Amino acid sequence: MGAREKYNRFSRIYDFFEGGMEKRIFSKYRKLLMEKIPYGARVLEIGIGTGKNIPYYPYGVKVIGIDFSSGMLEVAKKRMRTFQGKKLTLLEMDAQSMNFVDESFDIVISTFVFCTVPDPVKGLMEAQRVLKYGGKAIFLEHMKSDNYLINFFLYLANFVTKPLLGTSTVRDTKANILRANFEIEEEIHLVSDVVRMFICRKTRK
Ligand SMILES: C[S@@+](CC[C@H](N)C(=O)[O-])C[C@H]1O[C@@H](n2cnc3c(N)ncnc32)[C@H](O)[C@@H]1O
Repeated sequence: MGAREKYNRFSRIYDFFEGGMEKRIFSKYRKLLMEKIPYGARVLEIGIGTGKNIPYYPYGVKVIGIDFSSGMLEVAKKRMRTFQGKKLTLLEMDAQSMNFVDESFDIVISTFVFCTVPDPVKGLMEAQRVLKYGGKAIFLEHMKSDNYLINFFLYLANFVTKPLLGTSTVRDTKANILRANFEIEEEIHLVSDVVRMFICRKTRK
């Protein structure tokens, strides 16, 4: 079973499963990310999942959210109804081969997605392709640490998350972002060096 099927299966309990961490930790990082999106921007959210970022989007932006799991998108659609004034479109699409022309978006974002995309560099290269030249990509992601002890626990966690959701806890997402030709302007460590936010720029075509 691939990651898409795993997320479809898990979609109904995903929010409940993650609820505690979301309330205590992740919600404030989502707010921090949204502060970096300028008014009027055309935004692509990759792997929107159940739409946990939807409440935090400012009203003046136009968002297209994609995900390859129809189950996760179903939950996001329900959440969208609570925020009716927001300009949001949800599409079922694989981040590794997107149906958008080059340079379609001012901003591309992802939150906790490139730990799961089966070929993360391919997905990040697609993100780079659809972003306008000079545009900003913001990745809020968890990844492998530079600390051996932390990695020991991350490898243990990987034994659970990989079979359950297809999610890796030990990806080197920073290296993957650089491989996809993004220039990292700012790297913010949020939970040790495991949860980080990268603010990147497309400086190469
Ligand atoms: C851990 S969830 C995060 C969801 C959401 N971004 C959030 O912050 O709660 C990862 C999401 O990435 C999606 N995903 C993984 N690989 C994908 C791909 N290749 N294309 C599109 N979506 C993908 C999964 O279906 C899932 O909804």
